[in-house]
Amino acid sequence: MNVRLSGVGSYLPERVLSNPDLEKMVDTTSEWILERTGIRERRIAPDGVATSDLATIAAQRAMERAGISAGDVELIVVGTVTPDMMFPSTACLVQRNLQATGAAAFDVGAACSGFVYGLMTAASMISSGLYRNAIVIGADTLSRITDWTDRGTCVLFGDGAGAVVLEPGEGILGSCLGADGKGWDALMQPAGGSLMPATHETVDKRLHTIKMNGNQVFKFAVRAMANSVIECLDRCGMTRDDVNLLIPHQANTRIIEAAAARLGIPLDRVAVNIDKCGNMSSASIPVALDQAVQSGRLKRGDVGVMVAFGGGLTWGTAAFRW
Ligand SMILES: CC(C)(COP(=O)(O)OP(=O)(O)OC[C@H]1O[C@@H](n2cnc3c(N)ncnc32)[C@H](O)[C@@H]1OP(=O)(O)O)[C@@H](O)C(=O)NCCC(=O)NCCS
Repeated sequence: MNVRLSGVGSYLPERVLSNPDLEKMVDTTSEWILERTGIRERRIAPDGVATSDLATIAAQRAMERAGISAGDVELIVVGTVTPDMMFPSTACLVQRNLQATGAAAFDVGAACSGFVYGLMTAASMISSGLYRNAIVIGADTLSRITDWTDRGTCVLFGDGAGAVVLEPGEGILGSCLGADGKGWDALMQPAGGSLMPATHETVDKRLHTIKMNGNQVFKFAVRAMANSVIECLDRCGMTRDDVNLLIPHQANTRIIEAAAARLGIPLDRVAVNIDKCGNMSSASIPVALDQAVQSGRLKRGDVGVMVAFGGGLTWGTAAFRW
């Protein structure tokens, strides 16, 4: 695959929601949250700011670093579970905001694996010669679909966006995407779609918020992340020793540590930002990637491996040379 990542950018809303803040909202303690999840605080988008707004700023930052102007953008792909609305796609709203007239634009639905799925979709479209560049964005405002009365889930999530620019060149080394639809009900937002359209009853029952079987997702996540990275490295003819930085989905520090231990990758080669950001779904990986690049932790020429898991159930790994 002849596709490289030529720029990366991210954006986090300013407002911080800390664990002590959550203590005032639900029956929890800062210690429980930190010990069981690794999260200290998360960012929350203000009212009126939607996923496309976060996505647009992240995209602009990535474009600036790649040195590409809006008029030259050919494809925009957004991974999100919190689109501004059911349709049009958030990617179309980003295209309008960027004034990237002429770019094709669509969203990818793979829950928290959306960024990695979107990356490989766009990379394939460039590799095939269909497009000369693409912006791939992971953006979510999970605060909008969080049940703020459910202590089992509301402590986990945050808002943010990250983006990369893809262009022809040497970079993406290989991937491994997968799904297991039998686990569809382990993690979902039940109402608001064609199966259960919005009614007074669905709103009263808070069925437009995230429902999750935490233990089931936990076990699945550790296994899926480890297996998917092993498969991807195998396909690339690489081993764990070739990996300079593992960039996992940020859902729970204990999941990240267990997966890294299975892989035999020491934690000093694992990007972790969950303490400051919580789980931002599709945005977690590109935000962590941007932070690793800006801090100098991932340097040009280094090998990075991103690995995601999420609702679907889905998982996805992509290996690349930065
Ligand atoms: C959600 C998660 C943090 C729960 O941690 P856990 O160690 O499995 O905790 P359990 O669900 O076993 O709950 C243990 C107890 O803590 C309680 N608890 C749950 N949330 C709590 C909170 N915020 N504060 C205090 N207590 C809490 C539970 O009610 C339970 O109490 P009980 O034993 O009296 O019933 C963990 O399962 C997890 O991270 N799962 C994966 C979630 C995920 O990755 N989601 C996104 C995927 S993209």
